[in-house]
Amino acid sequence: EAVGRMLKALEKRGEEGERGERVVVMTGAGISTSAGIPDFRSPTTGLYANLARLNLPYAEAVFDIAYFRNNPLPFYTLAQELYPGKYRPTITHSFIRLLHDKGILLKLFTQNIDCLEREAGVPGDKIVEAHGSFARQSCIECKTAYPEQGMKDAIREKRVPRCVDKACNGLVKPEIVFFGEQLPAEFFANRDLPTQAHLCIVMGTSLSVQPFAGLPALCREETPRVLLNMEQVGGIGSRPDDVLVLGDCDAGVRKLAEAAGWLEELEALWAR
Ligand code: OAD
Repeated sequence: EAVGRMLKALEKRGEEGERGERVVVMTGAGISTSAGIPDFRSPTTGLYANLARLNLPYAEAVFDIAYFRNNPLPFYTLAQELYPGKYRPTITHSFIRLLHDKGILLKLFTQNIDCLEREAGVPGDKIVEAHGSFARQSCIECKTAYPEQGMKDAIREKRVPRCVDKACNGLVKPEIVFFGEQLPAEFFANRDLPTQAHLCIVMGTSLSVQPFAGLPALCREETPRVLLNMEQVGGIGSRPDDVLVLGDCDAGVRKLAEAAGWLEELEALWAR
């Protein structure tokens, strides 16, 4: 209820011409599970629990740059399933879009590479894709860009593409951030934004991968942090104004929307 009132108040301030863009949102794979995309760490349904067929030394190796250098095939065996385009945004994605439509979204930090936020209509300049995306691809050695169609073909054929510069011949991969790689400059350029937020909403992430996992702690002590997640994570709940909405995030956003008086609007936006 209190969060709903805050959302409403921020909306009103925006309408009155004050800067209303004060909500920062942080998301992970859990916001896309109801779209049919597995998350990483859920015990039986998560991607990491289902990689035995790839014979990896440890599950996260499939996204490890050092491992990829020696053995890129497991990633390309999986890439087809991860490639965006075949899934529909969830009502949680639409909720983020609604925050933008209401003029109160400061920034969305996402760890997801499924591009469903964009598809739900959140504009690109409001999104920080902290773990990159499939939008571009390049050589891991000389960084030369690789054509999109070539990548699509390689993924469909489960084949490892090589640098267009024959003299280099390095491995090519989509610009999703692997373990051992630097996050995009965009992440570091925006990472102080949580300090300006008046409300922080964290959804569908185990907050187990740094430096992303450190974002909620950057919010000021008086900024309420709301966690919509199956489980309690990342120390959210340790501050007096933290709010835990444990369970499915689709149900969670419906509760928040209802409390703000936006439920019908949200359902209509999602049904479009
Ligand atoms: P995880 O799989 O680690 O965490 C997903 C979280 O969402 C868990 O806490 C689940 O309990 C929760 N969850 C699942 N379904 C949910 C639902 N319907 N409603 C609410 N909560 C739900 O995924 P991330 O935190 O995104 O990085 O993982 C972070 C990074 O680790 C990923 O970006 C990826 C991975 O390795 C790279 O590949 C670089």
